[in-house]
Amino acid sequence: MANGEFDIVLWGATGAVGRRAAYHLAHRTSRSDIRCALGGRDAEKLKRVRDDLGPAGSHLEIVVGDSKDREFLASLAGRSRVICSTVGPFALYGSELVEACAKAGTHYCDLTGEPYWMRQMIDAHQAEAQRSGARIVHSCGHDSIPSDLGVLFLQKAAIERFGSPCRDVRIRITKFRGGFSGGTAASFVYAMEEGPKNPTIGKLMADPYALNPAGERDGPDGPDLMMPIRTSFDPELKVWTKPYFMAPMNAKTVRRSNALLRYLYGKDFRYKESDTSRPGIRGWFGAISYTLAARLFLIAMALPFTRAYLRKNVLPKSGEGPGAEVRERGTYEMIAIGAHANGQVIRATIVGRGDPGVESTSRMLVEAALCLAEDDIAVGGGFWTPASALGSLLRERVTAHAGLSFELME
Ligand SMILES: NC(=O)c1ccc[n+]([C@@H]2O[C@H](COP(=O)([O-])OP(=O)(O)OC[C@H]3O[C@@H](n4cnc5c(N)ncnc54)[C@H](OP(=O)(O)O)[C@@H]3O)[C@@H](O)[C@H]2O)c1
Repeated sequence: MANGEFDIVLWGATGAVGRRAAYHLAHRTSRSDIRCALGGRDAEKLKRVRDDLGPAGSHLEIVVGDSKDREFLASLAGRSRVICSTVGPFALYGSELVEACAKAGTHYCDLTGEPYWMRQMIDAHQAEAQRSGARIVHSCGHDSIPSDLGVLFLQKAAIERFGSPCRDVRIRITKFRGGFSGGTAASFVYAMEEGPKNPTIGKLMADPYALNPAGERDGPDGPDLMMPIRTSFDPELKVWTKPYFMAPMNAKTVRRSNALLRYLYGKDFRYKESDTSRPGIRGWFGAISYTLAARLFLIAMALPFTRAYLRKNVLPKSGEGPGAEVRERGTYEMIAIGAHANGQVIRATIVGRGDPGVESTSRMLVEAALCLAEDDIAVGGGFWTPASALGSLLRERVTAHAGLSFELME
């Protein structure tokens, strides 16, 4: 583990999520002796971000370099205990930093929702991270902390109540209000551009166990389909369900957590995430219309001409994200429903305050970095998930400081 001039470096502090993460990092650390820096490729932009933070940001150092510069990144990793990154699409700009952290023993967390890239990173650097002691934790934003920690919370409660975990857990998205940023759009565009060139991307996306360790890539769940035209009635919640955009990504992380937690949820664990519509015929119609519209959007994004048009005229650009009002008024709610083999059901709500795509995500990323820097983490070096590495330590942090709550329902 690198000793470090910096306890935490926020890499990519000038982007849409990065600027909000800088704000939270500054306020969370301004009265402590934790040494932090804002990092990126543009010194002037970084200084402006720090100046905008006022006195709360005065303790933050600035580091400047490029995410493709291996020499610089090796030196930065050598000087840092934890690096948290918003520099994405990660498949484009993230590999060299993960490599540097794995080599130097520097803990790392990020916001990637790109399973094909995560698979590449695990395969390339797991042995090195285990040797160096670097804890590498991907997906520390709205994708996938609420799902991953929510399932861990529910399963621990099930084990306490029933003596064993639930075999079947479903998460239903019951509220989602907010926007999304340019970096999220860029990651999606990148995946749509690369997909036809590299069939492995689609194969990994569909494989429900793509992120599991070698030799453990099978189980009872079927393929993770991207926005299938499908709706069903949820008798528990009495609403119609519709596909959820990030379900394939979150589900892979939850299943990897189960494997890394030595099958705490059981080897026959099944997991599914869906969005919800209203009850009744209007709910059914809303769910079907939504899935058709989503499918049309995916087709438009798959065709180069319409993709270029949407990118230029509709999708947010790098650095852009929802305005202050949307960020503050944003919110989300998920209900986790666990069905136990004994026929009983256990439910939990996971609620987040602040727009999921930027505000809540930036707070969660900062809490994950603080957790890696300050907490007594039980696992050693290697590639982990939020639940398997940080578990209840992170849950306490995001509950206290990032506006999340996890509660069992009666
Ligand atoms: N997990 C989640 O829930 C979640 C939520 C939101 C976003 N995300 C992901 O987070 C990432 C960031 O999103 P965003 O909207 O904040 O993106 P963004 O606004 O485009 O910001 C990207 C950042 O990366 C920096 N950067 C780009 N190329 C670089 C290079 N070669 N060297 C150094 N820095 C470089 C940019 O610097 P400049 O300012 O100098 O251009 C900027 O600071 C995306 O990958 C997105 O998919 C995930």
